[in-house]
Amino acid sequence: MSSDTDVTATTAVAYPNIALVKYWGKRDEEFFLPVTSSLSLTLDIFPTTTTVTVIDGPDDVVEFNGEVASGTPLARITRFLDLVRAKTGRTERAHVVTSNAGPTGAGLASSASGFAALATSAAAAFSLDADQRALSRLARRGSGSASRSIFGGFVVWNAGDGLGEAADLGSYAEPIDGGSLDPALVVGVVNNQAKAVSSTVAMRQTVATSPFYLPWAESSKVDLAEMRAAIAASDLAAVGEIAERNALGMHATMLTARPGIRYLSPQSLAILDAVQGLRADGVVAYATIDAGPNVKVLCSRADAPVVAKTIEALGDFVSTQTAFSGQGAYLLRDGAS
Ligand code: PMV
Repeated sequence: MSSDTDVTATTAVAYPNIALVKYWGKRDEEFFLPVTSSLSLTLDIFPTTTTVTVIDGPDDVVEFNGEVASGTPLARITRFLDLVRAKTGRTERAHVVTSNAGPTGAGLASSASGFAALATSAAAAFSLDADQRALSRLARRGSGSASRSIFGGFVVWNAGDGLGEAADLGSYAEPIDGGSLDPALVVGVVNNQAKAVSSTVAMRQTVATSPFYLPWAESSKVDLAEMRAAIAASDLAAVGEIAERNALGMHATMLTARPGIRYLSPQSLAILDAVQGLRADGVVAYATIDAGPNVKVLCSRADAPVVAKTIEALGDFVSTQTAFSGQGAYLLRDGAS
């Protein structure tokens, strides 16, 4: 690996992010342009590590969590690499080795960390000249939420305006100042398995059929403005209140899609009840839930142990992992770890 005629292998690491104001619904499916802007916290657990090597062979080869990928996962990655090839004018194929430290496809943002790591490593392997904003736009084309995992801490993904190629430039993520907030997210894991309905399909069906979708999208704009103000004021209770109402509203849009889509399970509801109980006892704790039954509870770093204990006391059906604010995607250089 010393001369520039050698193969180029680059490794990147990215972390999942959990939206406090959700992205739910595309206005342009091809360009992954969202209906609304969203805001998230990048975590410091469950990273994805991805190595991309430019190869001579006829096809892309993908190893996913130790197994050679085929079908939809392979097609999704090839389609993404095609974008990188188109941007660089290069035609070589790639060998991609990727692994998730956390559960895959279980509503724990593995596609966010996955495509942020792939965008970062593939851009470097194919010598695409891209700053973080450009990487965020690129990652968006793999999975919308991945645009936010390019950055650490609190991140806003600006929806932008318009449709198609012309709108691509305006839809990117950027970090925002978290003030003195140092929150924890206690992740209540009730199911590690991949979900039955993908977020892509669920959002499409929601946008197309739910009578609650447009009202939620409108209220989400208010949530975002109020969330920005709450973060600027370092007001954790307000951040939590807005996050919880925004997430429950998002689930209401899915429940009212036709046919309805339900990711919430009885175990999710048991955790929501426990979070309400914590609040009744004076603990600042609020829940958010993505496209899966697992519940993430926002609280202060100091309260994380009591929140985790309370959730675990619900029974064997749930385990917890506590996350804090994590960093954006980065490249590993020269065998660094
Ligand atoms: O980026 P996707 O297609 O995995 O969609 C993510 C959707 C939610 O996780 C439910 C919300 C969000 O903003 O991350």
